[in-house]
Amino acid sequence: MTTTPTVLKPAGTAARGLGRTNRRDTWWVAPGIQAVLFTVCATYLFFSGIVWNPLFGTPYLVDGYLSPLFSPLLFPDALPRFISPGLLILWVPLGFRATCYYYRKAYYRFYFADPPGCAVGEPSVHRGYKMETAFPFILQNIHRYFLYLAFIPLTFLWIDAFGAVFGQSGGVRVGLGGVLFFVNVTLLTGYSLSCHSLRHVVGGRLDCFSCTRRQQVRYGLWQRLTDLNRHHMAWAWASLISVTLADLYVRLLALGVIADPAIRL
Ligand code: FES
Repeated sequence: MTTTPTVLKPAGTAARGLGRTNRRDTWWVAPGIQAVLFTVCATYLFFSGIVWNPLFGTPYLVDGYLSPLFSPLLFPDALPRFISPGLLILWVPLGFRATCYYYRKAYYRFYFADPPGCAVGEPSVHRGYKMETAFPFILQNIHRYFLYLAFIPLTFLWIDAFGAVFGQSGGVRVGLGGVLFFVNVTLLTGYSLSCHSLRHVVGGRLDCFSCTRRQQVRYGLWQRLTDLNRHHMAWAWASLISVTLADLYVRLLALGVIADPAIRL
């Protein structure tokens, strides 16, 4: 006698319903902190990059320090006063961050609760959701192109950092602003080099890592990028905070709220 086998379908581990879970840890703490931090930084950066100068006339360039949100500075005198020059460049880092694999995971959790955490129930309205296979989220797939573009402002930020220290009339100036600029551009470089897409560009689509000299070189680079990639989340948060602080520093200098402690050589 034959018996029909019972087909077991995976039931998933998450309880049904928004926020329902069998987890006993404080799973909501990390997304909660990230939501606050991300919202504060993003709101400040939007205000500073787009609104602050046109509306209140606060300079973004003071004493040899150019805010990282405006670098490279494009056509500052050709634009109408109500348009921030930041608009011409900010779409690159904004697109790069918005489509970043890590940030997608983070803001899908804390803004869309999709899901709020591993094995935590999501809203039932998401059942017809097609994720990144349909508009608008399919646009997330252009991340690689933003990666290529992101190296343009990054190059200018290195030039700015060196210019803030070595490009001053009267010699070398080692100021707190210059230190901040170097820390910021180092963190932004770490963020860009640890990108998942870059790791794939360098080491992906290879069947053999050792067959030719060129493949061996790619394998070596891929290993180094993999080391950086392991900490992509840390690079993402550290660089977001540093770019916010570097801009704030320039603005407070421009407003005369703080002075730039510096050693001149
Ligand atoms: S995956 Fe985060 S920057 Fe590319």
